[in-house]
Parts: sequence; structure tokens; C-alpha cells
Amino acid sequence: MRIKGFIQRLTVLILLTGFCLQLKAQSPGDVITPVDNPKGWLIKTKSSVYQLTITATGALKPGYYGSKAQAGLGKKNPAWTETIDEVPVRGGLPFKTPALEVVYADNARDAELEYVSGEVVTVDGRPTLKIVQKDKLYPLQVTSYIRVLAEYDVLEKWISVKNTGAKGTITVENLASGNIVLPADEYTLTHLSGRDLFEFQLQEVPLSPGLKAIQNRGFKSNFNPPWFQVRPQSLAKDAAGPTWFGALHYSGNWQIAFDKAFEGPLQIVGGMYFWDTAWQLKPGTSLESPKLTVGYTDGGAAVATQDMAAYVRNEVLPAAHRNDLRPVIYNTWEATYYSITEQKAMELLKIAKDLGVELFTIDDGWFRGRTDGRSQSGLGNWDVDKNKFPNGLSPVIKATHDAGMKFGLWIEPENVNPNADIVQQHPNWIFQYPGRKGNEFRKILNLANEDVYQHLLKTFITLLQENDIDFIKWDQNNALSEPGWPDAPVAMQREVRIRHIANVYRLVEELRKRFPKVLFESCSSGGGRVDLGMLSRMDQTWLSDNTDPLDRLYIQYGYLKAMPANSMVSWVTSTSRHQPIPVDYRFDVSMTGVLGIGNDISKWTPAEREVAKSKIALYKNIRPVVQQGTLYQLVSPYEHNRCALQYNSTDNKRSVLFCYNLGGYLAGSQFIDRGSKTLKLQGLIPQQKYTVKRAGDDKDKGTVYTGSELMDIGMTWPLKDANKSQVFTIEVL
Ligand code: DGJ
Repeated sequence: MRIKGFIQRLTVLILLTGFCLQLKAQSPGDVITPVDNPKGWLIKTKSSVYQLTITATGALKPGYYGSKAQAGLGKKNPAWTETIDEVPVRGGLPFKTPALEVVYADNARDAELEYVSGEVVTVDGRPTLKIVQKDKLYPLQVTSYIRVLAEYDVLEKWISVKNTGAKGTITVENLASGNIVLPADEYTLTHLSGRDLFEFQLQEVPLSPGLKAIQNRGFKSNFNPPWFQVRPQSLAKDAAGPTWFGALHYSGNWQIAFDKAFEGPLQIVGGMYFWDTAWQLKPGTSLESPKLTVGYTDGGAAVATQDMAAYVRNEVLPAAHRNDLRPVIYNTWEATYYSITEQKAMELLKIAKDLGVELFTIDDGWFRGRTDGRSQSGLGNWDVDKNKFPNGLSPVIKATHDAGMKFGLWIEPENVNPNADIVQQHPNWIFQYPGRKGNEFRKILNLANEDVYQHLLKTFITLLQENDIDFIKWDQNNALSEPGWPDAPVAMQREVRIRHIANVYRLVEELRKRFPKVLFESCSSGGGRVDLGMLSRMDQTWLSDNTDPLDRLYIQYGYLKAMPANSMVSWVTSTSRHQPIPVDYRFDVSMTGVLGIGNDISKWTPAEREVAKSKIALYKNIRPVVQQGTLYQLVSPYEHNRCALQYNSTDNKRSVLFCYNLGGYLAGSQFIDRGSKTLKLQGLIPQQKYTVKRAGDDKDKGTVYTGSELMDIGMTWPLKDANKSQVFTIEVL
């Protein structure tokens, strides 16, 4: 059985949308150069070089990966390592973390690869080094790819394995996407971690000798994307200097391992996590890994963040809506929870229209049998609840469109409640081990089963055909337990996790292909499924069910370290476990990504509605800079009781600055933050004059400064009291 490559599907999607990547194509020779002494390739990006060599014994070794200034480095030195292969396998000496582990038909568990061929090809308009290796004894062919996106300083790596034999199955026990090897040094790792309601929390740890792995076995992304930054311990956090970074394109179980040798290099290996998994590679068939994106910059952590954001925005997010500004959303969830009705929807959409909302979305609760959250019933019945919407969804959709807004709907295709029709009719369609109860309220449909895939495809084609829907919020509120598939052949049962995710991707892709206008949002109990596998198929993502603006500052700051602002959905609600936070502060927090409102706006006071109107109008004006510009994270809430974010347009002629005070100080203390009260802006044109203006303050006619004044001298921190915020617009004179 052959699993269709993730890359091929993305290719088809891009071709279908007609997006012309050729415009950006680099000449392969510019970035991938064959070299002779030692024999191999030099891969160059804006500021990095990746050296690959073929040894005299036919092994393929990454030599040096780091600053392009060292591109001439052709011989061994302290930064050069040959202890780890380009595709490290289980076999030979065990001093590395393997990316590939196989068992051959005769039970040999050792692989040994030798170089066969290498060529520069073009994949989706980009130069790509394709290298074929094979096992010296067994019929295993290993093809590894390095696709180069030079202007973002990133490489995309992936591996395909093929059983070239006529008989005998090879069992794949591990297939990662690839590895990079950093020169011998001591390093600091930055990554994200979290749980539901507290996603994307920044972590920073020294990598001591040994193995550190960030991973997920919960069948989603674990409330943090598979993403990292690594810098030498000698480099200060905010300083420019060598920084490696990366992110994985996968939404099932994943792992990124950091294997630090005692005195030697740091190996970073990322890919699918084969925990509880094995793949039967039958003769003539292949298995392809998802992509691992890796990068290097001389610019330090801030530039690594900007490179990754630009790369994801311009190269990863689905091409169909990549360049579209994301609309202002209204979502019914926190207004009605499961009790949404036609009447309430009509009431909310009129107010939303008046506020300036552009996309009205009905969240959970609209379908048959979804009576309340306690019993969690009805999930799987994707037809309208006639008690709540007696005339179907059409009247609300029509009213939304008549009001000039787009219409969105929440779905959760992969999960079901046991009382859903589909479970009653096909009890074997859910993951299960007979006799085990597991989660009694909510089960996951086994999409590895083609019948389940076809059922879901048909169901959602019907839903989208019968209703003029512009936006889908695709939720997934379960972690996989009892991953059994008793009906499948025994050997295939341990492939189920990989097969399931492949079909989730296939389902999204097929629906996108048939309904190209629809914008998709990924969601998973908040931000439980954020990764480049999802973000290459979904246009944006919901971050957290924690909509408290203070908590959000931390959640969003962490998210924006790794992912672009135009993928970050943030609603204004009334939720705050802290002291009451004014509505304008909430808007200022939510305006730093894709703005939405998720509150019962029928209960908002006239004054609150006026604030909302003017904030939405302001957001529409600054949106191109926020969603498509370059972010400078000026002040971190993790280090101060303040936060500042600056977004610059790509030509640096427009800038938007968000400043927030967090909590106050105890009575009697001096009002002082431990950091500097001078805020220095970044990225502006030094000689250019800019008008700096308090947004929303009609009395402020603006003050003119040069870019260099704003960057070198800076401005005084503009806020005095707790829970106060201010947005500034900075425009060329
Ligand atoms: C979890 C999501 O994070 C919420 O926004 C909401 O859509 C609920 N699911 C609905 O069940």
C-alpha cells in the first residue's frame, strides 16, 4: 500500500490555484553548487551555508552548517563533523539519533547506506538537491531532499524510502524527516510548551549533554507547534549572532530531538514520532516523510522569528488565500455556547454588521442532537437541528450575505459522540480496542479506514454544496486513546496513526479543491493543532479558549515567536479572571493578529459598541501592516510587566506600535519596571521623517521624528497605570 506524498499533494494544490511560483524561482546553480574537494555540494542561502560531502567510502555527511562567511571552509576543522550521516540510520556505531530504523525480511535490524546519485531538480519552483542512497546489502532505496528557499534562509528536508525488492517486506520502525548537525559548542534551546488554556508558553533551556526531545503522543500538536530556535550559550538572548531554527510540517505524533554529544556537535532530528507505530514497506512501495523546515541566520533570535514568519506567510499558507487580508470575525461560541438559534443568530449578525464585522460565524451547537455541552451529544450528525434552525441555515446565510458579510460555520469532522447516527450504524468506524471503554463521551473516527474517509468527504461536500459557506472553523477536541483498528490486517494496524493523519490532510485538500473560495481555520480545543502540516492546508488558526487579554499577551507573544500574525486569530470577549479590563485594551490585544469578537454583543453597552466600531475601523486601516508586515517583539511580557509589539510594512514606510501595561505594583511601591523605560523602535528608514500619532486620539495631530531618532534615541514608555494600552501609527511624512 502506498501512501501518497504530502509534497505531491501540496504541488497539485499550488498548480490548481494557478499561483506562479516560477516568478520566484532561483537558478539552481546560484544556491546549490557541486564541489570537488571534498566531493559534495555547497548549499547557500542569504546568510547560511550547508556543506554536504561524499566520503571515500560512499557515506554522505553534512560537514558544516552555519554562517555563509565560512562557505570557503573546505577542510576539516573544529566546526566540521563527520560523525553523523545526512540520513542517520540504525546500524553501525550507535553514537547518534537515527532518522531511519528498519527491519529487513530476514530480521536484520541494521542498515548501511551508500551514495548512489545526486542531482539538482526543481520542486515547486525551487532548487532542490535530490540524493539517492541505497543499502549496501538489502533492497532499500533512500532518497533525501533539500529544497532551498534562500531569501528566508531556510531549507526544507524530507526523506522517501522505497522497497526495491521483488519480495519480502521491510518494516519501517522510524522515519524522520531529516537532521541537521551544529558545530561543536554549547547551546541554548528556545521552544514552546503549554496546555489547553495556556498554550504557546516560551521555554528556554540549556542543552546539556544527552538527549532532549520535544514531542507529542496525543495525536495533535500538544498546544505548542513543533518549532525551535537554538543559539550558542555565549550569545545573549537579544543579540544578533548565529541562530538555527526549524519547524515540522506534521499534525500527528511528532518529535524533535536535540542530541548533544559530550564534547561534540549538536544533532537535531525531527519528524513523525513512530511511538506505537510501524510501517510495512511492501515490495515496490514507498513511504515519504513530511517536511522539516530548518534555517540558519547570523541575525539572532529576532531575525530567525522574522524569517520563519515571512516563510510561512509567503510559502507555506495555502496559496489560494495566501495574499488575502483576513476578515474581521464574529463568532457565536462564547455568546451562546450550544444554544445558538436562528433568532439569536439574526440578532447577533445585525449588531456585528453595525460594528464593522466582515465574517459572521456560527460555532458549535447548530447540528442535530447537539443539545448541550454536558452530554456532548450529536457530534457526527452534520445536518441542521430543526429545533434551533427550523428553516435550515439558509435564512441566516442569506441575511449575512445581504448584509455584505461572509458566512462561516464550525465543524469537527474527525470526532463523534457515541449517540451519533454514524456510530450506531457503523460501530467499527471508531478507534477502539474491544472491551475497553476509553473516553465514553467522545470518540475519534478512524480515517485510516477508506470507508470513513469517503463518508466524511460525501458529508462535507453535501454540507458545502447545500449551504453557501465562505469559512470553515475545523475543530478537533480529542486526544487519541485506544488506537485499535481490529478489522484491519494485523500488520497494518500499527500504521493507523500515519494513515489517519494522511487522510485528514486528504480530506481538507479535497474540500479545498472543490470549494476554493472557502477560508479554513484550524482549531483543536483552542490551539491544540498548530503546525506547518495544518498551516499548509488551513489559512489561519484559533489560538486558545483563554480569551483573557492578559493571559493572551503571553500566549500570543509565544505564538508570534514561531508563526506569522496573519494566521493568529484573536477574539475580544468579556472573559477576564483578573480585574476588569477595559474593552479598548481587549481590542488592542486582539488587533495584533486576525481580529475577531467572540462575545454576546447584544449585551454590550452603547459605549462599548462605539469603542468596538472605532477599533474595528482602526484595525481595517492598520491590517495590511499587522497581517503582512514584519514583527519586532520589542518588550516581552515574560521579562517585564509590560509588552510592546511593532509591525512594519515591508517597505518600512508604515509602522504600527502596540504598547501594554500589565498588572500594577503593590500600593506604596514606586511605579517602575525593572527594564528601561525608553522604547527604541526598529527597522525604520534612518533619514526618513515619520509622523507618530496616538491612534484613536483625535486631539493628537502627530509628532514628527526621523527614523534614526525613533530607533537610536527612542520614545518614553507612554503608559502609566495598570491594564492600560496604546496603539500608535507611524507613517512617513
Ligand atoms: C473548542 C474551541 O476551541 C472553541 O472555540 C469552540 O469552537 C468549542 N471547541 C466548541 O465545541
